[in-house]
Amino acid sequence: MVQQHVEKTIEALLQERRTFDPPEEFASRAHAKDSSIFEQASADPEGWWASQAQRLDWFDEWHTVLEWNPPHHQWFLGGRLNAAHNCLDRHVATTPDRVAYHWIGEPGETRAVTYEQLHEEVCRLANVLKGLGVGKGDRVAIYMPMIPELPAAMLACARIGAPHSVVFGGFSAESLRDRINDAACKVLITADGGYRRGQVVPLKANADEAVAQTPSIEKVLVVRRTGEDVPMVEGRDVDYQDAVSGASAECPAEPMDAEDMLYILYTSGTTGKPKGIVHTTGGYMTGVSSTHHLVFDVKPESDVYWCAADIGWVTGHSYIVYGPLANGCTSILYEGAPDWPDKDRWWSIVQDYGVTILYTAPTAIRTFMKWGTELPAKHDLSSLRLLGSVGEPINPEAWIWYQEFIGGGKTPVVDTWWQTETGAIMISALPGITTLKPGSATKPFPGVDADVVDEQGNSVGRGNGGYLVLKRPTPSMLRTIFGDDQRYVETYFGKFGPEVYFPGDGCKLDDDGYFWLLGRVDDVMNVAGHRISTYEVESALVDHQAVAEAAVVGRVDPKEGEAIVAFVTPKAAVTGDEALLQELREHVAKVIGKIARPHSIVFTDDLPKTRSGKIMRRLLRDVAEERDLGDVTTLLNAPILDEIRTKASSLRAREE
Ligand code: WT7
Repeated sequence: MVQQHVEKTIEALLQERRTFDPPEEFASRAHAKDSSIFEQASADPEGWWASQAQRLDWFDEWHTVLEWNPPHHQWFLGGRLNAAHNCLDRHVATTPDRVAYHWIGEPGETRAVTYEQLHEEVCRLANVLKGLGVGKGDRVAIYMPMIPELPAAMLACARIGAPHSVVFGGFSAESLRDRINDAACKVLITADGGYRRGQVVPLKANADEAVAQTPSIEKVLVVRRTGEDVPMVEGRDVDYQDAVSGASAECPAEPMDAEDMLYILYTSGTTGKPKGIVHTTGGYMTGVSSTHHLVFDVKPESDVYWCAADIGWVTGHSYIVYGPLANGCTSILYEGAPDWPDKDRWWSIVQDYGVTILYTAPTAIRTFMKWGTELPAKHDLSSLRLLGSVGEPINPEAWIWYQEFIGGGKTPVVDTWWQTETGAIMISALPGITTLKPGSATKPFPGVDADVVDEQGNSVGRGNGGYLVLKRPTPSMLRTIFGDDQRYVETYFGKFGPEVYFPGDGCKLDDDGYFWLLGRVDDVMNVAGHRISTYEVESALVDHQAVAEAAVVGRVDPKEGEAIVAFVTPKAAVTGDEALLQELREHVAKVIGKIARPHSIVFTDDLPKTRSGKIMRRLLRDVAEERDLGDVTTLLNAPILDEIRTKASSLRAREE
């Protein structure tokens, strides 16, 4: 990529002008309806965060809100609390029979797990873990399907002060092995298998392969989910159900220091091995509880909330487990795929359970767009009152579609920007206050000091683009990278100095000070001296009625710096032919300008994606530049790459 010589600020060419005020009825009942909280928080950020920490139960009060030795920061020093106590015990005392999770297995079975039941399961499991030799500070790996035992496992670890490291159930044996070894986990909690699109995911087989090369693992706890016959290793493997039913249901929550580690979660960077992001107890719980309360406006007595992510990602950690449970709310936990057995599975769930708040990702929304409006239209989705988006910039077309066809044209849509590293939402609308602009994450959350700067770190000001930065720490942000503090310092504080956190994203500030995220800066192209975000071109392409999905990369070009190559999936019943190609080039020229017109367009039925649904532009760049492909181990749909490669090289031959 040519982005290394970033001299100019990003030229954000896309214009989006529609706005949506908070519906009156929504605003009048919202938790956040008075915009003075923004002023209050910016006048005294520490005081604001301390007020948010009061949402939790503390065994001991803190004496110092923030100790900041850039780039290191610590919060609520002297305070002691327990995350599982905050998620369970205090609700058991008041609303024991409230459902914590409505669980829906992919094959169709259901379970309603109340706070009291979840509390009991967690206490028993915590005792099992103690019995297996797990103590405060020991790391526990978790590799499980989306079943209630997964949040129970996380909370059991939290209860006894053992940091967990959840590895997404879609990862391979090697990925699991490397993550276990990096954190030297002592115990692994897994399952025989899980269900995905009617198939059994062989978790135990993968775990066996991984654990053959993880010297630190002493015991493996195995949940029976599919009931398939899996080999159990004598002396190492322990049947979860047997152990839990035989354990005591009494287990006091360990008082933890605010700064004790709650968990590690691995995230990939553009280069190098995955980073073990370290989150601590007091600050993280404060951040997720506060943002979940204010951004999703959750009313625990009446809402049915559904964050449709996998718990294996940070979205699930913060907004399926810790945030919603800390706030005592009722969530949906769905095990499987959105198209199993049919492509309207989600909409059946929304109707059957009266889901009121839905939080998902743009990639899912675009998939639903591709499948057509008839599917949501078949169901009564009128219970929905708020929609959320996370994971990548949401293009205005998808935003509008989401609001119109899922939200019945009436729900606010909150686009939430954050990262594994920030632990909690950093930029988002507050739905009772903020005027929405489709495609913009709007404004920083109270207490978050975000800005957009140029290469030298100077604010670019409204109307300009550049690098997104956070100018002061927030309680939920990572403390370090596990075992590699130097990498923490260099990765996040290397670019603008130790006081300024650089998340790696480009961003534009509009004339109203709204933040428009432009994707990772390494997803930014340089075309004839103009910096253009791949996202903007993609957004223009999917704006065309024939296009379902698009990915754009820059191919090094001696003349232009980079030539824009687009990979486009047409909607069903549309053929990607020469006529469409010309039409799309003209369309992009119209929406953004001639400069952004793709040089080549490759039509394809699908795009290479990670298991979390992110388009792997890195691999498409390899295809566009006719290089050998880089690491493809995290790819969901590997065969599509060969197809795309063949098409791309025959296209290239024709062009030359
Ligand atoms: C990166 C973080 C946070 C949970 C899921 C992803 C991109 C995330 C948005 C958004 C534009 C977004 C950024 C960020 N991103 N949300 N609302 N608008 N971009 O977690 O895997 O740590 O990825 O996702 O590029 O840096 P993650």
